[in-house]
Amino acid sequence: MKICCIGAGYVGGPTMAMIAKKCHDIDVAVVDLNEERIAAWNSDCLPIYEPGLQEIVEERRGKNLTFSTEVKSHIKSADIIFISVGTPTKDYGIGAGQAPELGYIEGCARMIAEACDGPKIVIEKSTVPVRTAELVKSVFDGYNKGHLFEILSNPEFLAEGTAITDLENPDRVLIGGDSTESGKKAVQTVVDVYNRWVPREKIITTNVWSSELSKLVANAFLAQRVSSINAISAVCEVSGADVEEVANAIGMDSRIGPKFLKSSVGFGGSCFQKDILNLVYLSGHFGLPEVAEYWRQVITMNEYQRKRFTRKVIHSLFNTLQGKRIAVLGFAFKKDTNDTRESAAIYICRDLLEEGADIVVYDPQVPAEEIKHLTSDSTKIANSAEEAAKDAHAVLILTEWDEFVALDYAAIYKDMVKPAHIFDGRNILDLEKLESIGFKASCIGKS
Ligand code: UDX
Ligand code: ADP
Repeated sequence: MKICCIGAGYVGGPTMAMIAKKCHDIDVAVVDLNEERIAAWNSDCLPIYEPGLQEIVEERRGKNLTFSTEVKSHIKSADIIFISVGTPTKDYGIGAGQAPELGYIEGCARMIAEACDGPKIVIEKSTVPVRTAELVKSVFDGYNKGHLFEILSNPEFLAEGTAITDLENPDRVLIGGDSTESGKKAVQTVVDVYNRWVPREKIITTNVWSSELSKLVANAFLAQRVSSINAISAVCEVSGADVEEVANAIGMDSRIGPKFLKSSVGFGGSCFQKDILNLVYLSGHFGLPEVAEYWRQVITMNEYQRKRFTRKVIHSLFNTLQGKRIAVLGFAFKKDTNDTRESAAIYICRDLLEEGADIVVYDPQVPAEEIKHLTSDSTKIANSAEEAAKDAHAVLILTEWDEFVALDYAAIYKDMVKPAHIFDGRNILDLEKLESIGFKASCIGKS
């Protein structure tokens, strides 16, 4: 069997590496039009950072795992084609700011239709709005090849930073397909691939539309939990309650559960905002404005949380940042990834720059050029947390990297301008300890 995945990104790369690891008899090719990206996948320095990924790629590359820019030939020879290209929020035209850009998906559908003349299973892996399969099918029909392809939806639920463990041991695998005979056969083929390592009871099959919608709904529910606890963090700060204690107390209720209750500077990543906007757009499209407004509020709360944090920094630094050096520790949207898409750090840095601050950023994985590109050429980049904090008026923790927990804050304090401030945007530090060193310390959700 041959599998081809179009799109060598955060989803396609790790997912295909896992299939190659678990199924040595299946040839897995990951193709992308971006030559630089493919070259990186074929080098010692992979284009994405993900714990455990490098080892798997090194083990399977050149055996049953290939990375290539020869898109058409790999599509043509594959039995199963995964579409795993980006679907960013549209920034123009109808649905701008809400609807996803489906141009890359359509591009893939056209390439598949042009390259293939035998039967294929085509799988939507990228997060797509409900009924995207229809779009793909119309393209195939336009080439008079609709009968050759079975279109399935198999959304990815991996989270960045834990992609390999999520793929190895998923809570569930979701496969949506048609209930026709050929549809059922195609679903079974894909079930059999995952069943090599995922127990059968964790593989759920649904119709295509349920599968497409479930992905959006899963992300909307997760993001809603973060926005809910972040809304409560603001109440805690003015009431004397402690958001971590509240989260712990409610999380022990088995109906609520402990996960996704960590208050923060706001959620980021390529999925949450995009998928909720997508749901908002769909709801509006279907004439359900109240539903759209309900989900829109999850994003409004996220924006509010970022602004609230920035305002707190400005206020504590005597309402002026003019010429002050601010050390930003962490730029990725969460730890253990080099991904910065929708990271809260982008928005917070931009607001601080606007106030006249001198920003110095340190992140263990995000390249310097990218940080500058997303903020300003005037942003300075440091090679360590200590270097960033030297002569700074304040340190901001924006990503929960483990190394920031382990820093020698007493040594950092010595080299800072006094009074030295620290703002923990991820609630990972012991504020009392920091204050005993001499810091003016604050975090989210404590008065
Ligand atoms: C998410 C979904 O978890 C995954 O299933 C889906 O396929 C893609 O989107 P990801 O964006 O990689 O994954 O990361 P996730 O761990 O969900 O975190 C998203 C954001 O929420 C991060 O910025 C994270 O820091 C933030 N977050 C998460 C919190 O602020 N508090 C929490 O308690 C949990
Ligand atoms: P995700 O997080 O969903 O994996 P990425 O943006 O990281 O998204 O990856 C998507 C990849 O898809 C990019 O590397 C992009 O170059 C690739 N891509 C987009 N359109 C096509 C296409 N028509 N053919 C091949 N690759 C494509």
